Amino acid sequence: MSDPATPPYRKFPATPNTAPFVNCETLDWAILDRLRAGFLGGTAAAGPYWQSPADLAHYDATYAERIGWKWDAVLAELTRRHWRPRTRTILDWGCGSGVAGRRVLSAFSPDNFDSLHVWDHSPLAREFAATRARAEFPSLAVAEFADTGQPLGLLVISHVLNELPADALTQLLSLIARAETVLWVEPGNHVVSRQLITLRETLTPTFHIVAPCPHQNACGLLTDGNERHWCHFFAEPPPGVQNDSDWVRFGHRAGVDLRSQAYAYLVLEKNSASDSELSALASQLSASPSASARILGRAEHFKGYARLLSCEASGVSSVELQKRTDPEFYKELKKDASYPLYRWTRDDRGRIIAAERV
Ligand SMILES: C[S@@+](CC[C@H](N)C(=O)[O-])C[C@H]1O[C@@H](n2cnc3c(N)ncnc32)[C@H](O)[C@@H]1O
Repeated sequence: MSDPATPPYRKFPATPNTAPFVNCETLDWAILDRLRAGFLGGTAAAGPYWQSPADLAHYDATYAERIGWKWDAVLAELTRRHWRPRTRTILDWGCGSGVAGRRVLSAFSPDNFDSLHVWDHSPLAREFAATRARAEFPSLAVAEFADTGQPLGLLVISHVLNELPADALTQLLSLIARAETVLWVEPGNHVVSRQLITLRETLTPTFHIVAPCPHQNACGLLTDGNERHWCHFFAEPPPGVQNDSDWVRFGHRAGVDLRSQAYAYLVLEKNSASDSELSALASQLSASPSASARILGRAEHFKGYARLLSCEASGVSSVELQKRTDPEFYKELKKDASYPLYRWTRDDRGRIIAAERV
């Protein structure tokens, strides 16, 4: 039993060694509204926008924490698949307050890493992210990134794509080319997901796609007829958040729905492994054989049947499930069904008649 006084989520966390202290009572809405307006209105792409450590502390306690829930979903999937990065160094690029790097360290244990480097074109962000990480992982070497042109270990990228002009994206792509592993999480909207898909296609010759794709073929969403769809998933907040008065008040005031956070993501591993490493990887990932399918977005429920978008090696297609065929699975589809992967048995009309978890 966990201590009832300690919720399993962060209550507007105090940020040790970082000023100022932020909690629901002390939130400065002028800061939060300005930041959100910049994110939504596109002005965030005009250059560094962090004006003070208070900006970062407010962001870290609120919007970044929501981003952390998306990371939790991705990292939970990787952990369930027994996947872990093979390198001991992390670079969190476009770090902001540094939530992504910290989530990765927590998920895979800081003991498995030698260093965390943070980079952001805002010096305030670099300073905040490094200070916050040192407070949380005192035995880890944490530093601002200085590019020496050397190969990189694990590159962490989070919610930065729609802020990058062409030259910055080129710079990021050159870092990706030198990375051993890339963990990349972005907002789950149509535009950003499509950008990520375009990048995925350019990266597949050099990287193995660990997730979300259940195959290494060209992305099935790029075929005619699939233009309106996009690759996205939903992360739920930790249990308790939706009943927590501080978070509920924050959600109402900020105009954000805390029930589920849409995200798009990519997990890439450099294709430089030896054959034996590759076969070890294949057996490690045997829970996701090429015949498997991943559900994109959410299933739609109608009277007596559900319709879902299934991503498989053969392509992306809309598939139906009659409720009477499998009432349990029909119900399961109302919750987040993006993971695990499935293998379908279909009838002669293409409808699912059996769903096997793989
Ligand atoms: C929406 S915030 C996301 C921050 C953090 N990665 C997260 O997930 O919470 C985007 C971050 O990217 C940074 N950024 C934008 N353009 C950049 C560039 N050209 N080079 C480095 N960082 C950049 C911003 O300063 C900001 O900290």
